[in-house]
Amino acid sequence: MDIHLRLEGRRDLSGQIYRQLRAGIVDGRLAAGERLPSSRELADRLGVSRQTTLDVFERLSAEGFLCPRPGAGTFVAPGIARTAVPNPAIAADGAGDWLQPEAVPAHSLEFRGGVTDKRVFPFTAWRRCVNHALRVQARDRGHYGDPAGEDELRLAVSRYLGFHRALSCTPDDIIITHGAQQALDLIARIVLRPGDVVAMEDPGYPPARACYEAHGAAVVGVPVDDEGIVVDHLPPQARLVYVTPSHQFPLGMPLSLPRRIALLEWAQQRDAIIIEDDYDGEFRFEGRALEALKNLDRADRVVYVGTFSKTIFPELRIGYLVPPRTLNPSLRRSKQLADWHSASLTQTALAKFMLDGDFARHLRRMHGLYRTRRQILLSHLRQDLSPWLTPIVPIAGIHLSAMLKPGISESGLLAAAAAQSIGLYGIAGFYRAGPPQAGLLFGYGGMADDEIDAALSTLATILPHVGGYGGQP
Ligand SMILES: Cc1ncc(COP(=O)(O)O)c(C=O)c1O
Repeated sequence: MDIHLRLEGRRDLSGQIYRQLRAGIVDGRLAAGERLPSSRELADRLGVSRQTTLDVFERLSAEGFLCPRPGAGTFVAPGIARTAVPNPAIAADGAGDWLQPEAVPAHSLEFRGGVTDKRVFPFTAWRRCVNHALRVQARDRGHYGDPAGEDELRLAVSRYLGFHRALSCTPDDIIITHGAQQALDLIARIVLRPGDVVAMEDPGYPPARACYEAHGAAVVGVPVDDEGIVVDHLPPQARLVYVTPSHQFPLGMPLSLPRRIALLEWAQQRDAIIIEDDYDGEFRFEGRALEALKNLDRADRVVYVGTFSKTIFPELRIGYLVPPRTLNPSLRRSKQLADWHSASLTQTALAKFMLDGDFARHLRRMHGLYRTRRQILLSHLRQDLSPWLTPIVPIAGIHLSAMLKPGISESGLLAAAAAQSIGLYGIAGFYRAGPPQAGLLFGYGGMADDEIDAALSTLATILPHVGGYGGQP
């Protein structure tokens, strides 16, 4: 048998030989029943002492990887080689870069989507609320809380939803989660069986796709047009439909009223569940607010999902869901099984922040700041950037998308902008089913007015020099 072993340096020689032989046996390169060279021959070939190879053979034999047969030699044991089978949780690559830990942005001007501006967060008020939570915690012995969340926080969220989204719900209807992402996961746990079909918007939100794929679902991308998801294209057997009705992710248009009604009827007829991900709908800048899809739901089909990631900051890791009443008990149980409950300290602090009015004040302030930032962005898109980009003007949210006019390479533009220290993010990667369209997603939550202005003025000087692409973004 011809085995190739490579030794690096002179340290831990037996460990190096052991690991390489073991890996060869496990992945089948050293086939069951094959005879290994003798320990003396291997030692000579590798330039190590015979004792070293003897130790390795002894260890591999003791662990059952090798079978020594006195007088005949040493053989690879049978039944050990393993074919690599992708683990669906790891293989779910629908999220691409989104599942990597977020790198600290390398660019001085960053249009990363979903980022909020922590520089203007009222940390003094927040500190007061955290101190309050610490005092509350110190009163009690340690105990586990309610899986659905702390009473005060559920009260605060139910009031907030009633006021801002006209969603009538009681604290008992609410389950507090670790961000919207955990809400999506808990729903998948109780609704999906491996092989079930999940429909979602295409282009769509990669972490949602990755979550359903990790649960073994077959995810089908459904096209969107300027009214949102095209209900007529929903796969008839879908068990779950994931949508972003207030602010389609990533393009930004709201789901029109006729489509909302069609979607609800569709789900009712097929006994399907709809997830309404209302991730940044509170920042509405024009037009009449379209109420939450859940408000129109007369057949209890919609699970409403919200998050504080866009109104406060993502590191808080607090979200919530308002499920149909019939799903409430199993979702509570699934939350308990997942992590018992979200951190009480953060929940109590956040409840105080909301009930004292600090959250509403913060929202009002951010609304004003984001409105101005959005205006600066739009005026560049409508003026100096208009030869290259066509904005899709959303009524809500803290990011805005714009499609590149034909002939401009998205990847070429991202690279050219990065060279000027401007972090731009493309749209093409969000398409899975349909042909990718080239465009940009401008997250403006984390950038000050002058930063947006400076970045877009530079962009206008870069765009004329970005090459074409011959058909592909
Ligand atoms: C479509 C969508 N849903 C939800 C979220 C927020 O998720 P989480 O609450 O887990 O931070 C984001 C953040 O970017 C998003 O874009």
